[in-house]
Amino acid sequence: MKAFVTGGAGFIGSNLAGELVRKKHSVTCYDNLSLGRKEFLRPYLGYRSFRFLKADLLDFGRLKKAIKGHDVVFHMAANSDIGYGIEYTDWDLKQGTLATFNVLEAMRVNGIKEIVFASTSAVYGDEPRLRPTPEDYGPLFPISLYGASKLASEGLISAYCHNFGMRAWIFRFGNVVGDNGTHGVVVDFITRLRKNSKELRILGDGKQSKPYLYVKECVDGILFGHKHSRREVNFFNLASKGATSVSKIADMVTGEMGLAKVKRRYTGTKRGWPGDVPQVRLNTAKMTRLGWKASLSSDRAVLAAIRALLRDRRFK
Ligand SMILES: NC(=O)c1ccc[n+]([C@@H]2O[C@H](COP(=O)([O-])OP(=O)(O)OC[C@H]3O[C@@H](n4cnc5c(N)ncnc54)[C@H](O)[C@@H]3O)[C@@H](O)[C@H]2O)c1
Repeated sequence: MKAFVTGGAGFIGSNLAGELVRKKHSVTCYDNLSLGRKEFLRPYLGYRSFRFLKADLLDFGRLKKAIKGHDVVFHMAANSDIGYGIEYTDWDLKQGTLATFNVLEAMRVNGIKEIVFASTSAVYGDEPRLRPTPEDYGPLFPISLYGASKLASEGLISAYCHNFGMRAWIFRFGNVVGDNGTHGVVVDFITRLRKNSKELRILGDGKQSKPYLYVKECVDGILFGHKHSRREVNFFNLASKGATSVSKIADMVTGEMGLAKVKRRYTGTKRGWPGDVPQVRLNTAKMTRLGWKASLSSDRAVLAAIRALLRDRRFK
């Protein structure tokens, strides 16, 4: 496969790009390095089958040229900086919805037929009536601009598939953690405790609880779903079994760092931030029926991620 990975220098994108290289596919990573890091791709830079382009999805001319000749687009780029998305209200619209439109349009112009899209449980909105939430739950009313931009992207993808003979694989991830992590609760706790090992600020009341999926399993699930499901628009929840609370993650991080007496400073609200969905449970029966499930539970995925990040020299 000639794979084009948008956001390929990011957390999930770099893990995906690495796995595609290992599986002997030819890979182009397209990333503006706003949040990603070229160093994540260092192990593959010498491969002839690998190419990195520092470029922006909002630069349509550049994108249209770069995407030419590929057969599958893994569209992983988006804004993962929640604070930025709240401060600049057009940010998710541009980096999410408009960027996805550009990707689809560049594919259409070049006759590329397959898109794999990183979506999110945030499309299900605030504490859906059905938990664990299945893929056909509705109506879908996200409560964050990020979730809204992903739902709009899903809509565009479906319409492009219908009108232009494309196929799509949409994966709604829960939380993903692990090697090359760039953001999220585990990264936040480790970064803060490295600066001040006496006190930890925790967003919310600590009771928010969500399923955490180890990034290698996320990549494995994406590639499995892409290979084994052949409808026009294929859509799956991708998550681990169980869920882990924010307070439990704090216990695990402080435990793994060998810190005994850390004072916890909860911001105290039910949500970690505006638009946060505090309780997430995803029904993953559809992926299970296809023949794939995560082998690590949510707790074990968090633990594996903490250990991987503590080995990472960015957090020394
Ligand atoms: N990490 C999670 O828990 C999680 C959960 C649900 C969905 N997702 C989705 O998975 C995808 C990957 O997320 P991640 O956690 O790896 O985040 P990330 O920030 O590490 O990766 C996103 C990458 O996209 C790049 N990028 C952003 N805007 C761009 C633009 N305009 N042009 C080119 N590159 C651009 C960034 O530089 C970054 O490298 C995203 O679409 C995200 O919304 C992630």
